Amino acid sequence: ALVEDACQAHGAERDGIVAGSGGLAAAFSFYASKNLGAMGDAGALVTSDAGIADAVRALREHGQRRKYEHDVEGWTARLDTIQAIVLRLKLPLLAEWNEQRRHAAASYAEMLAGVGDLELPPVPRGSSPVWHLYVVRTAAPQGLGEFLADEGIASGRHYPIPVHLTRAYEHLGYREGTFPVAEAVARECLSLPIFPGITEGQIAAVVEGVRGYFARGA
Ligand SMILES: Cc1ncc(COP(=O)(O)O)c(C=O)c1O
Repeated sequence: ALVEDACQAHGAERDGIVAGSGGLAAAFSFYASKNLGAMGDAGALVTSDAGIADAVRALREHGQRRKYEHDVEGWTARLDTIQAIVLRLKLPLLAEWNEQRRHAAASYAEMLAGVGDLELPPVPRGSSPVWHLYVVRTAAPQGLGEFLADEGIASGRHYPIPVHLTRAYEHLGYREGTFPVAEAVARECLSLPIFPGITEGQIAAVVEGVRGYFARGA
């Protein structure tokens, strides 16, 4: 069975299949910075399977199916009403916000092509991403990030430490070199600013900053 992690993909499509609709179940995060974000923590599981829906409804409330009847252990994972109100108000804006992210990504793709050693995020044919992040690769992302910061431009690293090298998973015994692709991406990634409402001027400033960094022979 296919279970989708659609946490960064609200509204994304691949070959006409919308993220969250292609598998047995899918998870969406509504963490505040996500394409559809609440004002705190929130999320949703979608499924076409009545059994999974029933089990998950119970799990979010300590395994309770009927009042005081707890069949299994669960969590406190209810979506609170305030977050639901925020999400209902923002949902009609999601498509437009995704378009604004797509516009920024298309601008970066055009204006940053061939700049320095940058590797821009590829878009597979038939794919329509929603650009939760715009992650470029470069040999020295920290230098570029610091240069941009001096220009007043924020950037991020998603993520500088691959999961298998975090202390949390040390006990699994994976060492540097086990997952070379993940490790290379972690070393080289830098996320450029992308958000709904980003202006042409802001996009141009990011492009100018990135070009400026490479122009000084970095
Ligand atoms: C791809 C992906 N999966 C899962 C999660 C977890 O979502 P949450 O932080 O709402 O638990 C996130 C967000 O942090 C994510 O980006």
